[in-house]
Amino acid sequence: MQLRELGKTGTTVAEIGVGVWRYGGGVEPLRQAIELGASLIDTAEAYGTEKVVGEAVSGIRDRVFVATKVSGSHLSYDEVLKAADASLRRLDTGYIDLYQIHWPNSLVPIQETMRAMETLVDRGLVKYIGVSNFSTAELREAQATMRKYPIVSNQVLYNLNRRQIEEELLPYCQKNHVTIIAYTPLDSGQLTKASAQSSRPDQMKVLELVAAQVQKTLAQVALNWCISRPGVITIPKSDRAARVVENCQASGWLLSSAQMQLLESAFPIGSRK
Ligand SMILES: NC(=O)c1ccc[n+]([C@@H]2O[C@H](COP(=O)([O-])OP(=O)(O)OC[C@H]3O[C@@H](n4cnc5c(N)ncnc54)[C@H](OP(=O)(O)O)[C@@H]3O)[C@@H](O)[C@H]2O)c1
Repeated sequence: MQLRELGKTGTTVAEIGVGVWRYGGGVEPLRQAIELGASLIDTAEAYGTEKVVGEAVSGIRDRVFVATKVSGSHLSYDEVLKAADASLRRLDTGYIDLYQIHWPNSLVPIQETMRAMETLVDRGLVKYIGVSNFSTAELREAQATMRKYPIVSNQVLYNLNRRQIEEELLPYCQKNHVTIIAYTPLDSGQLTKASAQSSRPDQMKVLELVAAQVQKTLAQVALNWCISRPGVITIPKSDRAARVVENCQASGWLLSSAQMQLLESAFPIGSRK
């Protein structure tokens, strides 16, 4: 598994981790991911999966980078501290590696939320602060309120079918050392369906062509494309250990520029809203 620097922190993380939204696979697939170096696990207080993550990392906590999120409805100062405490208990850990604001909430001043996030770092309960689903303007505004620590990541929707971040957010984050954590990288499994089963057969034929050229699966090409950009890592979800292995093998090789071009003309920006 190849590693990438998180923001400008000097800390490296797996370029392919695992996400556990709607996860029902138990401990084994997560342990498998960690064994293969996909040692970034992304959860959230809203997912109901922090407990299983805690079980999976029990005894090997120092080998895993645990990311979780405070919900957009818990962003007052006191609520953030309370949510972090509850996440720490469910995760059965003394610290969260990356604590992210799940969604922005315009009803709570962002400086209040960020003050709570910085307090958590000061107390040693959180190592790094991230956000999720923040637009460029929201990210800039949040960054401007930081007193001591940087925002190291923004977790957003990004896959071949959903390339909108390339227009503004991705270049901004690359320039400002904010790692993009690409969520739903397989478009909820749509990018793994053979053209004959897909509602978008022409596009999937192109993905199949590239997959045949590089002798990889559709999922592996879709994930590899996602992390082909500097400053982007991704967190596919699978309940199945075999698919976790498959997804990890999307790291460590490169699509050619001709293959990238082929994919990007078949899946243009804005083709799906
Ligand atoms: N911050 C946010 O607001 C936000 C929003 C959405 C998601 N996320 C994060 O991103 C993670 C991933 O996104 P996601 O779960 O929405 O979608 P995804 O990873 O794009 O797709 C997951 C789906 O693809 C299937 N799949 C996984 N690997 C496969 C493979 N190799 N071959 C065929 N099918 C495969 C899975 O089925 P099986 O499980 O049956 O294998 C599941 O149905 C989440 O778990 C979460 O951590 C964050």
